[in-house]
Amino acid sequence: MSGPIGGVPASGQPGGLPGSLEPNSEAPVSDASAAPAVNADAEQVGEAAVVESVAAARGPLMLEAVGLGKDFKLGRGAVLHAVRNVSFGLYQGAVVALVGESGSGKSTVAKLLAGQERRTHGTITLEGKPVEIHGGGAFRRYKRQVQYVFQDPFGSLNPVHTVGYHLTRPVKLHQPEVKDARKAVMALLEQVRLTPADQFVGKYPHELSGGQRQRVSFARGLAARPTVLLADEPVSMLDVSIRLEMLNLLDDLRKRLSLALLYITHDIASARYFADEVLVMYGGQIVERGPAEDVTQRPAHPYTQLLIASAPDPDNLGSVLKSANVATGGGAGRAGTVKSSTGGPAPTGCPFSNRCPLAEDKCKQNNPALQLLSSNRAAACWRLDVAAPQLAGGTV
Ligand SMILES: Nc1ncnc2c1ncn2[C@@H]1O[C@H](COP(=O)(O)OP(=O)(O)OP(=O)(O)O)[C@@H](O)[C@H]1O
Ligand code: SF4
Ligand SMILES: [Mg+2]
Repeated sequence: MSGPIGGVPASGQPGGLPGSLEPNSEAPVSDASAAPAVNADAEQVGEAAVVESVAAARGPLMLEAVGLGKDFKLGRGAVLHAVRNVSFGLYQGAVVALVGESGSGKSTVAKLLAGQERRTHGTITLEGKPVEIHGGGAFRRYKRQVQYVFQDPFGSLNPVHTVGYHLTRPVKLHQPEVKDARKAVMALLEQVRLTPADQFVGKYPHELSGGQRQRVSFARGLAARPTVLLADEPVSMLDVSIRLEMLNLLDDLRKRLSLALLYITHDIASARYFADEVLVMYGGQIVERGPAEDVTQRPAHPYTQLLIASAPDPDNLGSVLKSANVATGGGAGRAGTVKSSTGGPAPTGCPFSNRCPLAEDKCKQNNPALQLLSSNRAAACWRLDVAAPQLAGGTV
């Protein structure tokens, strides 16, 4: 039922080791011109675990990233490792949640998958075929199949154009065979439950609520008839009261259209509710992954434990935290979000080492690879025996 996700060296990417950390940056930075003394071997931690995805039980593998990495050149030799060695799959009809705090690299992963950013490392395959980022017809077809819905429904619609205009353009572009574009637009509006559709088609963005604008954004993404939808914080800018309604809509679209869905969020509580599999990101890396229920009820990585302990979920998500080793520490921000008090991830070793209460010398020098906790769960931490003794013993 489930398919393996490729194992790759955890930090064996070319492009320089993380070195000094730029002020205000959230991801590790290396400075090629003035690299501090870092033991290169210490970063070579061998093969990451091959983790089966629970999402594979829903349907076939659509999109797969293996060893995905993105470095941003910041000038004067400094490089920001925004995404490092990220591997996962998106499966037809399944939701995979990418969870992490601001700056952890979530949107960059989505942009790499959407072809909006050029990857520095790794491979992407769509239905088994390698994807090359260039301007050819194959890439245009890829971009049609893999749609990215932006996190800002307010900024992504042009205030001078109607809903109908916003939807007619992608319909004409992506469905050239359609004779009656207006009819197709009406069908899209109905699909996202903006009904009666004829009352919405002539409206301008300022005449819509936040939730209605987000529905237009979804409709615009669906106009391309994608098989993969990358939803980047689709509810974070909406009133709490309508978030659940919006997630229900996305879930309904996933089912009806058999979409492979990447759900990006700060809010690990909503990931539990909504996703099949959860990937927890920190400092550009996946630090924990597994079935949503398991990860949220029995978090293994100290960072996941911290996220869950800060999540204002009525079930308190992880009652397991009563016995966890990690206190919530520095104040929580948005739901399930913990603000860094140290200015970002550690530049060397485990990215969480400058915030982790369990950190020891090894953590500051060596970046741990994902280790299997069971066939479909993994965490990247040297001290899982202490952080999650009930899991690390292989008794999952
Ligand atoms: N074009 C760019 N040039 C340089 N740095 C960038 C660029 N885009 C993103 N970054 C940096 O990469 C890191 C990851 O950014 P990203 O937007 O992926 O984070 P995120 O997890 O989506 O955060 P948020 O939750 O705030 O949306 C951040 O440090 C960000 O400043
Ligand atoms: S490797 Fe060390 S610093 Fe990193 S999460 Fe585990 S215990 Fe904490
Ligand atoms: Mg983002």
